[in-house]
Amino acid sequence: MEKKTFYISTPIYYPSSNLHIGHTYCTVAADAMARFKRLQGYDVMFLTGTDEHGQKLQRIAEQNNMKPIEYIDKIVDGVKKLWATMEISYDDFIRTTEERHVKRVQKLFMQMYEKGDIYKSSYEGLYCTPCESFWTETQLVDGKCPDCGRPVETMKEEAYFFKLSKYQDRLLDLFENNPEFLEPESRRNEMINFVKQGLEDLCISRSTFDWGIPVPIDEKHVIYVWLDALSNYITALGYPDEPEKYNKYWPADIHLVGKEIVRFHTIIWPAMLMSADLPLPKKVFGHGWILLEGGKMSKSRGNIVDPVVLIEKYGVDALKYFLLREYSFGNDGVFTNEVLLNRLNSDLANDLGNLVSRTVSMIEKYDGGIIPEHNVPGDFDEDLIAVATGAAAKVEAYMNKMNYSAALDEIWAIVRRTNKYIDETTPWILAKNEEDKGRLDTVMYNLAEAIRIISVLILPFMHHTSKEIWRQLGIAEGEGTGWEDTFKFGLTKVGAKVEKGAPLFPRIDIEKELAALMNMEGTGNAPKQEEKKEEKKEEKKEAEPKAEITIDDFDKVELKTGKILECKKHPKADKLLVSQVKVGEEVRQIVSGVASYYTPEDMVGKTVVVVSNLKPVKLRGEMSQGMILFADDADGSLKFVTTDAADGCLVK
Ligand code: ME8
Ligand code: MG
Repeated sequence: MEKKTFYISTPIYYPSSNLHIGHTYCTVAADAMARFKRLQGYDVMFLTGTDEHGQKLQRIAEQNNMKPIEYIDKIVDGVKKLWATMEISYDDFIRTTEERHVKRVQKLFMQMYEKGDIYKSSYEGLYCTPCESFWTETQLVDGKCPDCGRPVETMKEEAYFFKLSKYQDRLLDLFENNPEFLEPESRRNEMINFVKQGLEDLCISRSTFDWGIPVPIDEKHVIYVWLDALSNYITALGYPDEPEKYNKYWPADIHLVGKEIVRFHTIIWPAMLMSADLPLPKKVFGHGWILLEGGKMSKSRGNIVDPVVLIEKYGVDALKYFLLREYSFGNDGVFTNEVLLNRLNSDLANDLGNLVSRTVSMIEKYDGGIIPEHNVPGDFDEDLIAVATGAAAKVEAYMNKMNYSAALDEIWAIVRRTNKYIDETTPWILAKNEEDKGRLDTVMYNLAEAIRIISVLILPFMHHTSKEIWRQLGIAEGEGTGWEDTFKFGLTKVGAKVEKGAPLFPRIDIEKELAALMNMEGTGNAPKQEEKKEEKKEEKKEAEPKAEITIDDFDKVELKTGKILECKKHPKADKLLVSQVKVGEEVRQIVSGVASYYTPEDMVGKTVVVVSNLKPVKLRGEMSQGMILFADDADGSLKFVTTDAADGCLVK
């Protein structure tokens, strides 16, 4: 019988700079799923790659005094090295600059054109270059790109359009009648609302730069990046000219994507496929973001978490385990070194590592390192066996829901149960009486057997660890190491030789390690707040005393108390906050240069002192009617001047 196929993809990443832990997260998840399905006997196609066209990449290359392809080759090299280090088991890596992709995208374009779905017109819109996205005025947030928060530019040009609007009803149908098409469910509701608001036709070509795939009917234009990028999922399969793999694997089982690009994958991509009369992917899963305590990772803020740094310190398996166990896949999660280290110590060093080393040591001590017979059943066996053999079905169910964290927790339920079994059966006491030897042997056997099941179930997530466990327990690959073998108890071979090894996961001294990570690049640590203040302090000169004034001079200044009702970041200036301040009967908008010290949330609710007769000014486009007073503290920070008085009181 032919094997069932399973096709999973990651987004193709922009090779604009080295990848960080966020990209790693998605790729590790896809890899674990691919390995899981292979373990289950599927014929898996796992695709990843790089999205190499567009204005942003052209600009970055220019800034580096390189040709686009030279710059990109260098980054892609690094991407491939990273995936090699992490042993990502992709079956194909597609680069959108490859000839196979270019010619097939052009064919797809022609197919859509001949269908009557592509027409020429002119476009004026607000464009976010980093995201390669056009936005309408209403989609902007505070005048900026709703995805990345950066400024947008107005662009007008002649362009080709795809009749996206034509597919609106079919798309709505898709979301409403196929709940499994987009998960998690919250994202589906977002998309339904988006489509219901009405879809505009999509600009699919650009003529202001040339780093792209030429429009086959018009050399002045290159194909807009999303049409180019999304096509990768079928061009890599050879569609349309070498359709063998396409016929075998399409439609994809899962496109794994970050939540910010769900819209492209569930609206534009299906519409393109509808236009070309091709089947739609079975599922798009929009996973959450890994955030840092200060928000998103960003190269410019120097707060990137570099997977290579973590791998060098803790190993590939530890990092993969952490990423999939710690975070709930559909939601955002916050990365800190502390969370990482605690997770590694508790689950890996303590729970799993200890279990394996205790067991191997005991078998060496009590049975000369040979897996003994097992014919004296006793208390606790039944429960251990039930937990160990009952896990696989649950793991499978969770994996099919993309719930990696619950799947791993299910495996760790066996780990915990087995550790408890040691405490319950007290082998060290059994060892004291010769007549208990039979029972002691059975306990040893059961421990080895439970560990065998664990070692197979963790194979998709941490295969080095699986293999090291097999080595230590004398298990040969292929003997009790298949998926079906995780439902059975009693496959470990009597007489096999165990062999103690180094601890699977060394215990980490968390405090020491945190201190060491503190100033290390690539661990998400932005320069310390303390250090910044120190620098400030040195820069800060004693303020020169001002000349004397009379009471009349002071009387010119009107000070009032005001309560900050709302506050947001200034859309155009990083250092400014824009507050709505209630001063008695009126609400004034006041701009303050304190964004380096306070978040909008810090501001709201404070009753402060305001210079209320200051001449209104526009600050970077935002009206400011007055000034909020702050105390310039000795440590270089600004402190609120707050009051217990109601708002609107005169300060004199
Ligand atoms: O969007 N947390 O490429 P990209 C979790 N080329 N995942 C993250 C992440 C984070 N902090 N940061 C990035 C593109 N990702 C397009 C895709 S597909 C046809 C074209 C992951 O380099 C996440 O999966 O910006 C996200 O969707 C992807 O990287 C975006 O990578
Ligand atoms: Mg992105």
